[in-house]
Amino acid sequence: MNLFDLTGKIAVVTGASSGLGADAARAYAAQGADVALLARRKEKLDAVVKEIEATGRKALAVPCDVSKEDSVRAAVEQVLGAFGKIDILLNDAGIAQGGSVETLTEDQWDRSMDVNVKGIYLMCKYVVPGMRERKYGRIVNIASVNAILADKADALVRHVYNTSKAAVLGLTKGMAASYARDGITVNALGPGLFESEMTENTLFKHEAFMNMYNSLCPASRPGARGELNGPVLFFSSDACSYTTGQFIVVDGGFSIT
Ligand SMILES: NC(=O)c1ccc[n+]([C@@H]2O[C@H](COP(=O)([O-])OP(=O)(O)OC[C@H]3O[C@@H](n4cnc5c(N)ncnc54)[C@H](O)[C@@H]3O)[C@@H](O)[C@H]2O)c1
Repeated sequence: MNLFDLTGKIAVVTGASSGLGADAARAYAAQGADVALLARRKEKLDAVVKEIEATGRKALAVPCDVSKEDSVRAAVEQVLGAFGKIDILLNDAGIAQGGSVETLTEDQWDRSMDVNVKGIYLMCKYVVPGMRERKYGRIVNIASVNAILADKADALVRHVYNTSKAAVLGLTKGMAASYARDGITVNALGPGLFESEMTENTLFKHEAFMNMYNSLCPASRPGARGELNGPVLFFSSDACSYTTGQFIVVDGGFSIT
């Protein structure tokens, strides 16, 4: 019995047009799931959809701004119309706004909270009822190691990012407790530094930060593409049927020293 087999499952991935979300969508398909890919940029989604379809799985690109209720409702309706059900929801969409409480504008604060926190609430609002009816669901929320750790370099301080990712942990636990009896597990992942669109032109270009990260990280390197997929598949599969409300940090040991 392969606990990680996703044959017959339908997965929805937000933020699937790039980075960790696109990697997870590919990993779901490789385990046998059909996948709906949500993000704002249709052209970028189409490229990942094509790749997945070439492997023989079904994939659907659905334009969606997770911070807008009308957009989320329409996207979930489109997925249910095409696939009939949703078994797995990976809430990956996120933005990493820099700045301290002194420098952030109110709009920057609100936008980060809207995408990183409200986006997960809205996706769950429309996906959870179907999961409860079918008595099955796997919800995986992408938080960050920065939900539990402050940024160590002054130049890279991200107060609203810290706040929004910590809020994701609260939401994860609250939903996990409410829906465990419905066969739904809700868990969160805390990536450390991974190469992606979010980081390749920011943190990866900041030599002092990279040197600091590598020297403080027991693995002495950032996460490589695909290295989040194992924990994503664990929380998305039957392997975690009795594991809920948990947070796994995936950071090469960065947060343990
Ligand atoms: N890369 C890292 O080092 C790292 C570390 C910790 C946590 N994370 C988290 O991982 C997740 C993925 O980030 P990534 O590194 O792959 O970056 P990324 O920028 O490549 O991916 C973010 C995705 O979210 C989408 N998105 C942003 N706003 C959206 C909105 N309003 N509606 C729908 N989609 C939206 C983007 O289009 C993109 O597809 C984020 O939640 C991020 O905070 C990343």
